[in-house]
Amino acid sequence: MSFHSKRILVVGGAGFVGSNLCYELLRQNAAEIVIVDNLLSAELENVPEDSKVQFIFGSIADDRILQKAGKDYDYVFHLATYHGNQSSIADPIADHQNNTLTTLKLCEHFQGVSRLQKMVYSSAGCTVAKKTYDDVSATSEDAEVSLYHDSPYQISKIIGEFYGNYYWMKYKLPFAKARFQNVYGPREILGAGSWRGTPATVWRNVTPTFIWKALCNKELPVENGGQASRDFIFVDDIVAGLIAIALRGETGGVYNLASGVETTIQELAEVINRLTGNKASIAYQPARPWDRSGKRFGSTDKAKDEIGFEAKVSLEEGLSKTIEWTKQNRDLIKRNMMKHAYYVHEVRDYS
Ligand SMILES: NC(=O)c1ccc[n+]([C@@H]2O[C@H](COP(=O)([O-])OP(=O)(O)OC[C@H]3O[C@@H](n4cnc5c(N)ncnc54)[C@H](O)[C@@H]3O)[C@@H](O)[C@H]2O)c1
Repeated sequence: MSFHSKRILVVGGAGFVGSNLCYELLRQNAAEIVIVDNLLSAELENVPEDSKVQFIFGSIADDRILQKAGKDYDYVFHLATYHGNQSSIADPIADHQNNTLTTLKLCEHFQGVSRLQKMVYSSAGCTVAKKTYDDVSATSEDAEVSLYHDSPYQISKIIGEFYGNYYWMKYKLPFAKARFQNVYGPREILGAGSWRGTPATVWRNVTPTFIWKALCNKELPVENGGQASRDFIFVDDIVAGLIAIALRGETGGVYNLASGVETTIQELAEVINRLTGNKASIAYQPARPWDRSGKRFGSTDKAKDEIGFEAKVSLEEGLSKTIEWTKQNRDLIKRNMMKHAYYVHEVRDYS
């Protein structure tokens, strides 16, 4: 099975993961890719310039945009979100409109479309993982889901799974869920998109933040003694996992896309400082008050056994590639960070 002669919709395709996916789908000879994105947390620079790619600017929750995109697709990848946890806490309604509602609208729009082979939904491992600082075991797909979450973002991600499951059970919508661990890699542009209420608009996730600060010879801010752990997965692996789910995943199924390797934030900071040659010390800070998630990593067994997916890129290799991309795209990143200088004065220190 391949994407040769297939028509594909990528919602959120201008974003970090979405754009990497589009480049890979082109490499795998997809016949046509339609990207729908309202550029809330993305930049047009990420959209491939290719005659096979059509870009539709707007929200997939808007009926006119859904109509414009149409229904004639073999595959749909739903990567839109209101990025991320902290933005959603600052504006839960915006999170609802761009995170929860997008999934419901897509399910409703595509129910009964016989051409559709798979709709792949990007869910998040953080909504399922146990919130603990004790030693942890790998979170498997059938782990219990708590009813108590730390952010509207996490609630929206799991509601997306609920809607997908419902439309699959009731209407046989070929919905499948990819539960991502922490993704990092090229095309994650700090400050991409519009201001979303907190400095996290600029800093996004821990890996690109650390890389940028380290390249600027600044101290890396490590919270709560750096003891929290995550499962870092390189974006090329996530893209390979999304494609494996689209081509080989069971409809109604859920798969972790994880490296299976637990890395503490302290370790991440040390590796990034070493790879960039940053000599500044680590700046220890208190824990974020809203964040109860301590240690976590994902189980890789099901994805390996059922769809043959295994992450291939080691943390050190992936970080080296990301550092190289960051150096090559310094101006683009700086320009996007500086858009928010009025709110986040700190970014001026990096200009
Ligand atoms: N990056 C990670 O570590 C991670 C971890 C777990 C889950 N995920 C999920 O993976 C997906 C991709 O994440 P990302 O890191 O690439 O984030 P991103 O912010 O780069 O991508 C999200 C994209 O959705 C677009 N978007 C937002 N609202 C939209 C709407 N209403 N209509 C159309 N487009 C809209 C944004 O402009 C952006 O391009 C998200 O659904 C996210 O929740 C990511």
